[in-house]
Amino acid sequence: MKIIALGIESTAHTFGVGIIDSKGIVRASINNVYIPEVGGLHPVQVREHHMNNFKEIILKALRSAHISLNQIDLIAFSQSPGLGPVLKIGALIARTLSQLYDIPIVGVNHCIAHVEIGRLMCKVDDPLTLYVSGGNTIVSAFESGRYQIFGETLDLPIGNMLDSFARDAGLTHPGGPKIEQLALNSKNYLPLPYVVKGMDLSFSGLYTATKHLIMAEEFNKKYNLEDIAYSLQETAFAMLTEVTERALAHTKKEEVLLTGGVAANKRLQEMIEYISMEHDAKFHVVPLKYAGDNGVMIAWTGILQYQARGGDELDQTIIKPKERMDNIPIPWRSE
Ligand code: ATP
Ligand code: FE2
Repeated sequence: MKIIALGIESTAHTFGVGIIDSKGIVRASINNVYIPEVGGLHPVQVREHHMNNFKEIILKALRSAHISLNQIDLIAFSQSPGLGPVLKIGALIARTLSQLYDIPIVGVNHCIAHVEIGRLMCKVDDPLTLYVSGGNTIVSAFESGRYQIFGETLDLPIGNMLDSFARDAGLTHPGGPKIEQLALNSKNYLPLPYVVKGMDLSFSGLYTATKHLIMAEEFNKKYNLEDIAYSLQETAFAMLTEVTERALAHTKKEEVLLTGGVAANKRLQEMIEYISMEHDAKFHVVPLKYAGDNGVMIAWTGILQYQARGGDELDQTIIKPKERMDNIPIPWRSE
């Protein structure tokens, strides 16, 4: 039987509402992104922003799908991981809708949702996934019933690091695309800290080094911002590529999936595509619309979860800000 799910994404900047059916047909995808005027992400401000906008986003999604809430068979929401105050908004709205309209509810892990929407949109079965965004840097693949984590950042997530550097350099948020543009104009590599520990990554030393380069005497004399942007990308992306390649050699997966907001970067795509080819694996980038945070990925993963093990009881819908994707059994997939 076909079911229709409404998914609510609310882990960070994005309040997203997606509607999709169990055949994988997207009915609506409305995402509203909070962009801070200055500085980083303040949970309380994000929460207020989502609080002020959720009703309009939900109504827009329903209108765009030409359906009413009564026709929704499942409510899914991002339950983990993320900022506590922000996750709470999504959970509260999902629970309220579920209770008022008597619709089953499921809580979904945001990182797993990135992988599942990637599998659907790119038509891949069993990929090794590099998920790179403002809040996450994870190399993951399905093994022993779970999405195991083969490598991850030990400190700053890649997108957050790029955005912080961009802010220090006086560029506006989000910094990633601006750094990509600047980097195109340089081939002058400045040596920077390259830190891979085992299978994990550390970006904080790299970030500090680029900050020093901006503040140094020689800035705009011996090198410029384009050179730093180029060197930063080459170093950070080579680190990501090394870990992804080693995970690929270990897992022997035949497909590679690149997702998250940073997946939009052409240079990163090029590097990951290259190592995929070297290992005879097919390379896929999740389309931009579904690579960044969105409600559809939550709705789709909600359907998979609901079909495999039913809805959640209300007391199972408590948010889990720190829950890791490798902690969660994946009953909808077999070895
Ligand atoms: P998450 O909650 O999954 O961590 P997020 O809130 O960071 O996600 P996304 O849309 O997945 O949201 O990612 C945004 C990040 O992607 C920002 O750090 C931004 O700078 C980065 N980004 C976007 N485009 C590019 C690009 N072309 N090159 C590098 N980074 C990019
Ligand atoms: Fe995300």
